[in-house]
Amino acid sequence: MRVDLVIKNIGKLVTGKDSGRPKIGQEMNKLDIIEDAYIAIKDGKIIDIGSKNDYKNIINDYTKIEDAKGLLVTPGLIDSHTHLVHGGSRENEFSQKLSGVPYIEILKQGGGILSTVKCTKEASCEELYSKAKKSLDRMLEFGVTTVESKSGYGLELDTEIKQLKVGKDLEKNHPVDLVHTFLGAHAIPIEYKENHKPFIDIIVDEMMPKVKELGLAEFCDVFCEDGVFTIEETEYILSKAREMGYKLKIHADEIVSLGGAELSAKLKCTSSDHLMAASEEGLKMMAQNNVIANILPGTSFNLNKAYADARKMIDLGVPVSLSSDYNPGSCPSENLQFVMQLGCLGLKMTPNEVLNAVTINAAYAIDRQNEIGSIEIGKKADLVVFDAPNVEYLMYHFGINHVDRVYKAGVLVVENRQAIYDNI
Ligand code: NIG
Ligand code: FE
Repeated sequence: MRVDLVIKNIGKLVTGKDSGRPKIGQEMNKLDIIEDAYIAIKDGKIIDIGSKNDYKNIINDYTKIEDAKGLLVTPGLIDSHTHLVHGGSRENEFSQKLSGVPYIEILKQGGGILSTVKCTKEASCEELYSKAKKSLDRMLEFGVTTVESKSGYGLELDTEIKQLKVGKDLEKNHPVDLVHTFLGAHAIPIEYKENHKPFIDIIVDEMMPKVKELGLAEFCDVFCEDGVFTIEETEYILSKAREMGYKLKIHADEIVSLGGAELSAKLKCTSSDHLMAASEEGLKMMAQNNVIANILPGTSFNLNKAYADARKMIDLGVPVSLSSDYNPGSCPSENLQFVMQLGCLGLKMTPNEVLNAVTINAAYAIDRQNEIGSIEIGKKADLVVFDAPNVEYLMYHFGINHVDRVYKAGVLVVENRQAIYDNI
């Protein structure tokens, strides 16, 4: 057996064993940890895990040995909900927001998502690409090795396709893996404000088939919210999406308790996201149907809203994942470590629960559980070396970047908190 790389002298290695479904209840509070560990890697995959010097009998002259200096190693972090590709920024709405104007009111006035739609339409592919690349580099520098990326700032075919194509191009040239989601139903264009139906017909009859035909998105998502898409409209769009072969996600019960959680259970969506206003009944239904609650505490923090009831979700047996929701309006930050810290400080999750929520459960939220999300033989060698003695420390010492190094498929891509993949 030829081994390409051994990372030795790992103080604490968070491994994990995928059990065939996301972690729920008390499982979420458990991590498998090996002390004084090593990982052996071949062709970008993990081929052996053990402790101390036991790797000695599997290496040969070609094996590179790297020293983790006694630090903490976890699976690469997964950001399973972002709006990565978009034009412009919205600091012009910041003072309005600070003075208490609600997020949805800014949207109703033609700002918010609609103002980003305008900037995204005006931006060239090159501009969108270089802005998103900068964000993706930042995410990688924070230890994120896989990112879900949504469209939704076009609201018409050409711009939706432009956004998704930029995402696909980025994926080709960037070490971070992307998972693509079509979110044409992200806002109602002003001209359809009084009558949504013709716009929904364009989404379903023109955009969704074209995006599918071009192979640009694996998931379909809808912003189901008071003043945006109703429950009935969301159900119609997502049912059609399923018929076309998309997997499903919903922006559900973010601001108003509309029944988005219930709908995500009825449709057996892969994940239901936000859920700050979800009903207990809806959460119970999600638990029964194994729908992941993808919670976005950075958005609660930034909108100054109540946090989702993560404790209740975990108690009810709903599998929980956490992600950034990185976007120019409700969460303009790429920092998933801060989101993890909010997972503890805002959502009252334990550090172990949070780590499971951004690794194995996040992998389930994007249907990548067979490749990533835990350090197991056969999975991709996506690893983060944290300059931290243990998992608790990551959440406790907040507001800084704890990354020491990042390996993507066994290749060193971040060193000294700097993305270095261009030089490889
Ligand atoms: O997930 N809520 C809807 N969509 C995004 C925000 C997008 C924006 O404000 O540009 C979200 O929060
Ligand atoms: Fe979102």
